[in-house]
Amino acid sequence: MSKNIDTDWWKGAVIYQIYPRSFRDSNGDGIGDLPGITEKLDYIRDLGADGIWICPFFKSPMKDFGYDVADYCDVDPIFGTLDDFKRLMEKAKKLDLKVITDQVVNHTSDQHPWFKDSESSKIGDKSDWYVWADPKEDGTAPTNWLSKFGGPAWNFNMRRGQYYLHTFLPSMPDLNLHNPEVQDAFMDNMKFWLDLGVDGFRFDSVLFCMHDRYLKDNPHVPRRHLKPIEGRSFIEPYAMQDHVYDFNQPEALGFINRLRKLMDQHPGTFMVGEVSGTFSEEQAADLSAKYSEEGKYFHTVYNFSFLGDAPTPDLFRQAVENSTRHGIKSWPSWALTNHDVSRTITRWNRSNDPAQNREMSKTLNALLCSLYGTPFLYQGDELGLPDFEVPYHLLQDPLAVYLWPEWKYGRDGGRSPLPWAENDAEKTLDTDKAFNWLPVPPEHVPYAIEHQENDPDSVLNFTKAFLKWRKQHPALIHGEITFVDHSEKDIVCFMRAGEKETLLCLFNLSGTAIDMTIPVAVNDLERIENIPFTGTWEETSHELTLPAYGFCFLSMASLNKNRA
Ligand code: BGC
Repeated sequence: MSKNIDTDWWKGAVIYQIYPRSFRDSNGDGIGDLPGITEKLDYIRDLGADGIWICPFFKSPMKDFGYDVADYCDVDPIFGTLDDFKRLMEKAKKLDLKVITDQVVNHTSDQHPWFKDSESSKIGDKSDWYVWADPKEDGTAPTNWLSKFGGPAWNFNMRRGQYYLHTFLPSMPDLNLHNPEVQDAFMDNMKFWLDLGVDGFRFDSVLFCMHDRYLKDNPHVPRRHLKPIEGRSFIEPYAMQDHVYDFNQPEALGFINRLRKLMDQHPGTFMVGEVSGTFSEEQAADLSAKYSEEGKYFHTVYNFSFLGDAPTPDLFRQAVENSTRHGIKSWPSWALTNHDVSRTITRWNRSNDPAQNREMSKTLNALLCSLYGTPFLYQGDELGLPDFEVPYHLLQDPLAVYLWPEWKYGRDGGRSPLPWAENDAEKTLDTDKAFNWLPVPPEHVPYAIEHQENDPDSVLNFTKAFLKWRKQHPALIHGEITFVDHSEKDIVCFMRAGEKETLLCLFNLSGTAIDMTIPVAVNDLERIENIPFTGTWEETSHELTLPAYGFCFLSMASLNKNRA
C-alpha cells in the first residue's frame, strides 16, 4: 500500500451531488448525460467542491429514473456509454476531483436478468435471490408491510404463484441479501466500478436491505404520535407502522462490514450510507452513529435531519450535538436538500423578495459548509435555485403523480435541469423534448449560471469565494465543534477549534437584523482577513449586528494555539 494515499480526504470534503438527467445535456435530447458532466467538471472544480456524487446512470427502464437498475455494470444509453464514463474519470482525476457513484443495494428493476431468472422458477439457481413468500391462507400478502411509495409492499407474481417484496415500486423487487451469493454478486458489481477508479459509493436506501426472515407483522404506531409531513393534510400509511421487521435489521451490520472490508482493500475509497426513514432526530442520530462506527461500517452516514421542515437554529444544534454525543466514534454528513425533497429556498419559504432569498441562500451554504461533518451540496444550491412549480401534465416522478395534488410538485420540483444559459428555458420548453424530461422553467432564467458568473453579488460567486476561503481555515474542515448558549432564537452560534485557530461562527437565520452581545467571554476576538463578513462589528466590542440572513466568523485569538 502506498504511503501517500490520503484515506481521510472525505472528512470535511465538499461533495457536489449531480442528478445526471438534470445536470448538463450535451446532445440536445432534453436529458442530461455523462459527456455533459465531463464538460462541466471544471465548473465544479472552480466552485471549490472536492468531489462529486453522481446519482444512478446505469441501464434502467427508468420507472424511478435510474434507481431501478437493470444492469449494474453498464451505462444507460440515454446517459452515454462506458467509454464516456472512463473519459469522465480521466478528467476528474486530472482535476483532482473525487468521483462517487450510487450503489442501489436494496432492490433491482424487475427487468434485471437476476429477477427474470428468479421469477421463472421456484427451484432455479436464483430462486431465492429476491424475497418470495406464499400467500396467507386467505390469499392476502404474507405480512402487513407497506411500500414507501404507497400501498402494500407485496406484489403477486403469476409465474411463481407467490408474492415478492418491494419496498418501493412494484417494478423494483427487493433483493434477498440474507443470501451470501447475492451479497457476493453485489460486491462483484462494486469491484467493477472500483477497477474503473471510482473513489467511493453512496449506498441507496441501505437500511431497508434486510427483512425479518420470519416475516412478522410490523406493529402500528399509536395515532397520537403521528402528524402529517409539512405541506400535506394526511398521514402517510407508511408512517403508521413501527418498522421493526422491515428496516434496520441486525443482519445489515454484518453485510455492511463485508462491504467495508472490500473498500479497505482499495485505500482512499470511502462509502456513505443513506439513512432515511420515519424516525425522530434522536433515532436518526443513533442509527447514524451505529452504521458509521469508525473502521467497521460506512465511513459516514448521510442523514435526513435538515431535509424535512425548514431547520431551525435549535435543530442544527440538536442534530450536530446528537451526532457527536455517542460514545461511538463516527463522522457525520449533512445536506440541506437533494433530489428527493423540495429545494432549500422553497422549503424555507420565508420571503417573496428575491434579494432576501439570495442572502438566505448564501448564509445557508456558508452554514452547511461550516458544520462539523462532510457537506453535500446539491446541484443548484450554489445558485440559490427554488423549486419549479411543475404543472401536472409535466410531472415525471411516480411518487409525485401518486401524491398529486397533496404534495404539490413531488420530487420533480427540485429535479428540473440546471439553468446554464438564459436560452436554456426556450430550448427545453419549445420542443417536444420537453416531454422527455422536465424543462428549464422560464422563472429560472434569472438564476442562470451565465448571469450569476458575471454578477459579483450572486449566490454562485459568493459560494465560490466562501469555499476558497474555507480551505484557508482548516478549523472549519477538521476542527471540533462546540455550540454556544445565547438568547437569540434565530441565531446559530458555534465554535470550531482547529490546530492553529479557533473560530466563532454566527449565522442569522431570520429575515430581520439582530443586535446581539457576542456570547463568549474572550476579550481578543479578531476580524479575519478576507472574510466574507456581513455583520457590523467594532473591533474590541462585544456588541454585534447581524443583518437579515447575515453571518460572521471571528477568530478567538486567545484560544488560537501555535500562533506565531
Ligand atoms: C433515492 C430515491 C429513490 C429510492 C429508491 C432513495 O432514497 O434517493 O430517489 O427513489 O431510494 O431507490
